[in-house]
Order: sequence, then structure tokens, then C-alpha cells
Amino acid sequence: MGTGPGAVALLLADMGHCVIGLDRSEEMLKKARENAKRLGLPVDFKQGDAESIPFECGSFDVVVSRNVLWTLPNPIVALSEWKRVLRPGGTLVVMDGNWYINLNGSLKNRIWRSSALFWISIIEKRNALHRRGEPDWRRKLPMTFRKRPEYDIELLNELGFTDINFRIIDRRRFGLAEYLKYGYYGDTFIISAQNERLDKT
Ligand SMILES: C[S@@+](CC[C@H](N)C(=O)[O-])C[C@H]1O[C@@H](n2cnc3c(N)ncnc32)[C@H](O)[C@@H]1O
Repeated sequence: MGTGPGAVALLLADMGHCVIGLDRSEEMLKKARENAKRLGLPVDFKQGDAESIPFECGSFDVVVSRNVLWTLPNPIVALSEWKRVLRPGGTLVVMDGNWYINLNGSLKNRIWRSSALFWISIIEKRNALHRRGEPDWRRKLPMTFRKRPEYDIELLNELGFTDINFRIIDRRRFGLAEYLKYGYYGDTFIISAQNERLDKT
């Protein structure tokens, strides 16, 4: 869901899975198709809305999303759609982060963010500093100030998912440079959950 340039979809295809990558942006899908062609991997990239999916109920064994849920205006609608297209007993995997939970953070956090944007611009050779003066649409998204993955788990329970597990990913394991650039964000995490089985025996 929200496959973007296709990194996760292509990794899964490389592992031998039969994968469909969905995104609403044609521009992203074009990049994803170019990547698939370059790598010689058979992913079917389709345009569609992750909150209203153009697939039948129970079409997939697994639904995977990375860094998408935080961007959506109706995360619970999206999760219920992802459940709808999962087969009974199928697995949902959500990778995401508390990306902007510190937007109203402490002075230390704001100083860290400003210096991080500077380091990102230098190390990654892209202009991250423009973000400082941008009107902040992120504040209006429903996930921005929620503590996650706790909030996700609450929604998954409400929707009837079972066997919900999660792992917090500690940024410090990726080294000091990565921590200086991105450590001011909140935690990132991975959740897995099962769709209900029809037969509960
Ligand atoms: C931050 S990017 C993450 C891309 C990819 N999952 C990754 O981890 O590399 C978010 C992606 O979600 C897509 N997206 C946002 N809202 C969407 C929606 N309602 N339906 C489908 N795709 C959506 C965007 O076009 C974008 O490609």
C-alpha cells in the first residue's frame, strides 16, 4: 500500500513472492516500474487509493505498508480496507514512525531539528532547509500527534485483528551520522497482525 518507488514491493518480489504495488501517484508508479525493469523483477504496479482499494475482498495473503499510514487523512478507513482485502488469517505488516510527534517539542528538540536539516542538506546533498519555513500541513494529519505504535494497536484491536506484535527500531543502531540526522524524530516501528480466521477452531 502506497508503494512509492517500490522498494519494499521489489524486495518481496526478489524473495519470490507474487506482488502488486498500489499507489495513487502516477509519478511514483513510473519510478517503481523503471526500478522493476532495471532489476528485472515482475511486480505489477497499479494506480489506486489505499483508502478505497480496487480489489475484491480476501484477495491477498499479506498486506504491507511502509511510511504511508501517517500521511493518510483517514487511517482507520485505510486499515479497514486493508483488512477487507486480506484473506481470513492473512497478515498485515505496518512499518512507520512517529515522524512529527516532536513538532511542538522541547527547545532541545527544535535545535536538534534545525541542525539535523543542515546536516541532511550537507551529507545527502539535497536541500532539507526549505522545510523550516514551510506551512505545516503535517500538524493537521490525524496520526501526527498520536503516540505510535500504541495508537495503531488500539485501531487494529478495534477492527478485530488478532496476534498483534510490534518492534521499536532503535535509530542508534544505524550509526552516529544517521542518529544526528534523524534522531530528533520519534521512534520508528514495525507491527504485524493477523486477520480473523473464518473458522476459529
Ligand atoms: C512516504 S511515501 C512511502 C513510499 C514507500 N512505501 C516507501 O517506504 O518507500 C508515501 C507513499 O504513499 C503514497 N500515498 C499517499 N496517500 C495514498 C493513498 N491514499 N493511496 C495510495 N497511495 C498513497 C504516496 O504517493 C507515496 O508514494
